Amino acid sequence: MSDEVLKVEPTVKITVRPNGPFRVEGPISLVDVNGQEWDLTGKPAISLCRCGMSTKRPFCDGTHGKEGWKCDASPVPTEPVAQG
Ligand code: FES
Repeated sequence: MSDEVLKVEPTVKITVRPNGPFRVEGPISLVDVNGQEWDLTGKPAISLCRCGMSTKRPFCDGTHGKEGWKCDASPVPTEPVAQG
């Protein structure tokens, strides 16, 4: 029996909200192009703007709803893999 401990990386879950933001849950590190990090202390989840209209980008500020922004957000079904 091995004493090796299997480390499992925590998973970040990103939910594409219908007509809304990306909801990001998990161990999050959010940085800009220069590597500066937003302080997300105490935030187990954040919503990132997907419509481009937020005044608090990269975060969603709810403008998408006020403006009636629409965008479908579901994966395109894939073809079943042929067996044999
Ligand atoms: S997705 Fe909410 S303001 Fe852009």
